[in-house]
Amino acid sequence: NTSRLVDPFQRPVTYLRLSVTDRCDFRCTYCMSENMTFLPKKDLLTLEELDRVCSAFIGLGVRKLRITGGEPLVRKGIMGFFEGMGRHLDSGALDELTLTTNGSQLHRFADDLYAAGVRRVNISLDTLDADKFARITRWGRLPQVMRGIDAALAAGLKVKINAVALKGFNDSELFDLVDWCAQKGLDLTFIEVMPMGDMGEEDRLDQYWPLSDLRAQLAERLTLTELDETTGGPARYLRVKETGQKIGLITPLTHNFCESCNRVRMSCTGQLYTCLGHDGMSDLRAPLRASESDAVLIDAIHAAIGRKPKGHDFDYSRQGVQGQTIRHMNHTGG
Ligand code: GTP
Ligand code: 5AD
Ligand code: SF4
Repeated sequence: NTSRLVDPFQRPVTYLRLSVTDRCDFRCTYCMSENMTFLPKKDLLTLEELDRVCSAFIGLGVRKLRITGGEPLVRKGIMGFFEGMGRHLDSGALDELTLTTNGSQLHRFADDLYAAGVRRVNISLDTLDADKFARITRWGRLPQVMRGIDAALAAGLKVKINAVALKGFNDSELFDLVDWCAQKGLDLTFIEVMPMGDMGEEDRLDQYWPLSDLRAQLAERLTLTELDETTGGPARYLRVKETGQKIGLITPLTHNFCESCNRVRMSCTGQLYTCLGHDGMSDLRAPLRASESDAVLIDAIHAAIGRKPKGHDFDYSRQGVQGQTIRHMNHTGG
């Protein structure tokens, strides 16, 4: 059964987000709890299994593959996996092979990523202040990430900065981030904070900074035009006339984009989550291991896509936080 993947709401599934590890060298407060326990390494899919499952998805019409974590570049041997996936770019089956990273290891891997066929990376960076950076990541070192960003640019990679919009944290830095990205030639995307995992000491409701507000602040100083183009992901883009730069907005809360969803995500243990905002999943590890042939796996993938929900239920507007998921963001990498 090699027919293309289409969900119950007639949305084609063409984008796979693959988490290759739940581990990370940082602990961003909105992503993980401080004393997160990680999965035993023996539970992870092997690199060969990751290759096989991605190849099966590509055979079923996936054209964009984003590697996530945790931090994907802390998975041992991951460059071999990227190199292997390069063959799908060469054959024309895949349009884009890319990753979302915290940047901490990019100085080591940027050249190899480019050689494997990666042309664009998304790097998470919420603040330009080293002390605040250490606070939000719980111990990350900003200079190391800056070095990674420079290495990515030097390698020829296009860089997009992801900043989670947090009231009382980086709202004071809005124009600093915009100016800095413009100067360095980086695209910039803001993301509304989503209620995933236990909230720990932070209060999501207090931190929530609607991007409708952020956009209005931008518009006070800059001339913005909306672009039709997409990167195949959830962001809608604005062009800034004064600087020529592109600013993306990812607005699960203020402007739901589920209607045009083209994505599913797989955890590093082989669980397929067909919606970021739901804890429901389908195990692909058992069918993957059940047989050398892909037939069983492909049937399981089709069955899982057949259960993709219409959308998330995240909401901060009623009494407190609604639609929150139990799993943490690092489990599926967003
Ligand atoms: P581009 O290819 O640059 O468009 O990347 P992307 O935005 O698809 O990926 P990235 O990993 O940079 O994700 C940015 C943010 O978008 C993260 O916070 C993700 O959790 C979020 N995101 C991605 N897909 C979805 C989705 O289907 N639903 C929701 N609610 N958020 C999503
Ligand atoms: N809400 C919104 N974005 C989040 N990310 C991690 N946790 C959350 C959350 N709770 C972002 C990271 C990274 C991307 C994969 O998801 O900053 O850029
Ligand atoms: Fe690590 Fe990224 Fe999660 Fe931060 S958001 S803890 S960098 S996986």
